[in-house]
Amino acid sequence: MFDTLLYEKQDGIAWITLNRPDVLNAINMRMRDELWDAAHAVRDDPDVRVVIFKGAGERAFSAGADISEFGTAPSYVESRRARRQRDLWGFILSLELPLIAAVHGHTLGAGIELSMCCDLRIASEDARLGLPEVSLGYIPSAGGTQTLPRHIPPGVAMQMILTGDPIDAATALRYGLIQRVVPRERLYKEAESLAHTLMSRGPLALRLAKRAVLEGLDLPLAQGLALERRLARRALASADAREGLAATAAGREPRFVGA
Ligand code: COA
Repeated sequence: MFDTLLYEKQDGIAWITLNRPDVLNAINMRMRDELWDAAHAVRDDPDVRVVIFKGAGERAFSAGADISEFGTAPSYVESRRARRQRDLWGFILSLELPLIAAVHGHTLGAGIELSMCCDLRIASEDARLGLPEVSLGYIPSAGGTQTLPRHIPPGVAMQMILTGDPIDAATALRYGLIQRVVPRERLYKEAESLAHTLMSRGPLALRLAKRAVLEGLDLPLAQGLALERRLARRALASADAREGLAATAAGREPRFVGA
């Protein structure tokens, strides 16, 4: 049970809802701690195949870190301690499961940064995505300066980071920051349908492919290709790969076991 999150499991999907709608789901220390626990829960639960992050209420996925906790001495010390001891964003990025962010409304600061720790982003038409930290004399610190230029062209990332101005969903789609834009009322249905598509694929293959892409992005091409060869050998030797081939040959749906 969480104070600032809703955590629901349904048919292999873990739905994690940022749940402070009165303050546009601002991420306070408590929510950080609870995201840490929820991220461990999905990692350790074999029934969870895909995770979907969403925001409660009609106005925001999240308006970012909770500004009301900024600037007070105990909270500043606390937040530095928390960051040192618990690399929440790094931990979410390290999860092997496919992660989807379903964002709407204000998706700012740590909100957009959380979405960029996910593998796929779906947005509703009303989404506005940005990193406003420099307007506060601050810089993004939930990974944004590093993750944004890995998702979109560096010049566009630089513009967003240096101006702090948000972009709308259509612009985010054009740059590839999000993969799909849908009407608000379709957002969670689309996210769920995407999750079901992912769950029909080989779970081990998804884990290995995700690793190849994420680790490969930080490697020179030759090393990235070597990494892919190693991971492809593992995939090919798996029971899932044998099942995938057998199912295709027999014209039936594969029954993957994730190994
Ligand atoms: N931290 C704490 N509270 C926040 C918040 C944040 N990041 N963002 C919004 N809120 C609170 C507001 O204080 C307000 O609370 P109140 O009703 O008790 O006064 C409530 O959420 C609604 O926000 P409000 O500012 O009234 O809505 P708006 O439509 O006028 O503006 C935003 C929406 C997103 C433009 C504006 O809230 C904003 O700029 N938020 C800060 C965004 C930010 O800088 N995030 C990065 C932090 S590093």
